[in-house]
Amino acid sequence: MGNTINPDRWCEGTVVELKRWTERLYSLRVDAPVDAFTAGQFSKLGLMIDDEFISRPYSYVNAPDERPLEFYFITVPDGPLTQHLVMLEPGDSVYVMRKASGFLCLNEVPESKHLWLLSTGTAIGPFLSILKTPEPWQRFERVVLVHAVRTAEELSFQDSIQSIANQHPQQFSYIPFVSREDTDFAIRDRIPGALASGALESRAGNTITPEQSQVMICGNPDMVKDTSEALKARGLQRNRRRTPGHITVENYW
Ligand SMILES: Cc1cc2nc3c(=O)[nH]c(=O)nc-3n(C[C@H](O)[C@H](O)[C@H](O)COP(=O)(O)OP(=O)(O)OC[C@H]3O[C@@H](n4cnc5c(N)ncnc54)[C@H](O)[C@@H]3O)c2cc1C
Ligand SMILES: NC(=O)c1ccc[n+]([C@@H]2O[C@H](COP(=O)([O-])OP(=O)(O)OC[C@H]3O[C@@H](n4cnc5c(N)ncnc54)[C@H](OP(=O)(O)O)[C@@H]3O)[C@@H](O)[C@H]2O)c1
Repeated sequence: MGNTINPDRWCEGTVVELKRWTERLYSLRVDAPVDAFTAGQFSKLGLMIDDEFISRPYSYVNAPDERPLEFYFITVPDGPLTQHLVMLEPGDSVYVMRKASGFLCLNEVPESKHLWLLSTGTAIGPFLSILKTPEPWQRFERVVLVHAVRTAEELSFQDSIQSIANQHPQQFSYIPFVSREDTDFAIRDRIPGALASGALESRAGNTITPEQSQVMICGNPDMVKDTSEALKARGLQRNRRRTPGHITVENYW
């Protein structure tokens, strides 16, 4: 907050495109000379709004070597920043924090056989960045991407996901969850519910155990909490630098 923008911390980016996925979901594509980052990290976007600088964290969806930068966001009703992000047009300026942050990265994740990436809503973004790098495919026998949303139209990035599936047909599974309508392809439940019922693992063809699984969880903090609790009840532990475990998380609010 405040109204000064430190040029050592922030660079001025140029909007390349605002892609509209649904009425509330958008990808903002930006050219900006940011510092190098690790897949899974987030930066910050900022705008000067009524003489006040307002900024919020956003995960990189693009892989570290991909350009333009891409950020996937949902418009929050009365949200101080998203109401303005959604009005950006190609050529407009947006500030991007030069240095990325965050630990939802594979270099934080210990070795194991299977990698599970569990997301709600916009939190699929950092996992797509990770999946577009070589590392998961070199390190894990199987990689499962779960994207849990309210309605089927919110299952964005189908082309990117299909391209990942085409490149890694033996290693990759994509499991969509749609909680508020019936479909003939998605699990109709929340992630903790599908862990309890066995529906998630049955669909993936693998079980989650401390011996063979690493789990990364991102998005709605209630989902992160409820899912972590369900996994802890099975013997998995939070992964921390000093005490390595199996569950690596990031909350979006
Ligand atoms: C580490 C980190 C990474 C993030 N990455 C992203 C990202 O890649 N994409 C993104 O859209 N948001 C992301 N967020 C949230 C983002 O920073 C903003 O909070 C959000 O865009 C809303 O901004 P706002 O100023 O309009 O409203 P705010 O005042 O910031 O938020 C108001 C409320 O909106 C809800 N909300 C906020 N973000 C979301 C969301 N993503 N999905 C559903 N409900 C939400 C929460 O209830 C929150 O309390 C991230 C947050 C953190 C902490
Ligand atoms: N038009 C509007 O005014 C309007 C409408 C909707 C949302 N919003 C805003 O948008 C935000 C919602 O965005 P979103 O739909 O991307 O995210 P979300 O509310 O986090 O929902 C994404 C998925 O997470 C699930 N989920 C919620 N809580 C969970 C929990 N404790 N454990 C496991 N799964 C859980 C949801 O299931 P469930 O479907 O079972 O909850 C849904 O499948 C809200 O914070 C609100 O600010 C506004």
